Amino acid sequence: MKVIILGTAAGGGLPQWNCACDLCVRARAGDPSVPGRTQDCVVVSATGRDWYLLNASPDLRAQLTATPELAPGPGRRETPLRGVLLTDAELDHTLGLTFLREGAELTVWAPPPVLDHLPLRPVLAHYRDWSWLPATEPFAIGDGLECTVLPLSGKRPRYAQAAPTAPDWVVAYRVHDPATGGTLVYAPCVAELPPGFADFVADADHVLLDGTFHTAGEMSTATAGGTTDQRRMGHLPITESLPLLPDGGIRWHYTHLNNTNPVADRASPEHTAVSAAGATVPLDGTRLEI
Ligand code: MLT
Ligand code: MN
Ligand code: ZN
Repeated sequence: MKVIILGTAAGGGLPQWNCACDLCVRARAGDPSVPGRTQDCVVVSATGRDWYLLNASPDLRAQLTATPELAPGPGRRETPLRGVLLTDAELDHTLGLTFLREGAELTVWAPPPVLDHLPLRPVLAHYRDWSWLPATEPFAIGDGLECTVLPLSGKRPRYAQAAPTAPDWVVAYRVHDPATGGTLVYAPCVAELPPGFADFVADADHVLLDGTFHTAGEMSTATAGGTTDQRRMGHLPITESLPLLPDGGIRWHYTHLNNTNPVADRASPEHTAVSAAGATVPLDGTRLEI
């Protein structure tokens, strides 16, 4: 299985357009220790022929055009993009769907509450007759990749606070390639490691995990305002997830980094500590063969 990590930042990216925090200023100035990051998005393929997005970021157009593997052809309107798996209904994970409306054939998998309440779905129905399928039971995507789903939390996006509660507003995906035996787990929005998480990742080779915040109070410190505890935003801080990560041959990667997260500075002691603990903080464009 081929994996391309197209984007590694939380909503807003790095630098964020309206942010003058230390890291955004340094990324904007081209500081080599603080490389820019686009918003969280991944693409997977068993063979390199058919590709499936994990989430659809607002930076998708730029991510697609920067990735030769995803270029259209040989037919004038032929594209290797076959589908999208959504982990949740947040804007930073779904707005990219609007930039796929030029393409005719697409399957979108999402947990049922996301299928039912994603406002983009009725909008896009005016443009394309895509297939929208529930990500509940194990399901197969192209080239024989096998997917399983783990409900992570009932966190609804801000625009959906009036929608019914459900345990699977946010899920993680486990993508297994029977041809290689390789397994990837993608969990970019984790409030806490739920029961069953250790089993879900047990045979994974690589796990992409929520690395939004380094510590719980970080955003208020960096931007002088806002929520004081980032755990309430549904993102377990790295300092709290790192000691909980099960051992055993799994390679852990933090993604969906908020622009206040000190690990986005590759020269920081926080980044060094994450590396020393055996996890990585991959850059946009990182490729894995699993
Ligand atoms: C999140 O990751 O918590 C959301 O993307 C937040 C947001 O979009 O405002
Ligand atoms: Mn987000
Ligand atoms: Zn910033």
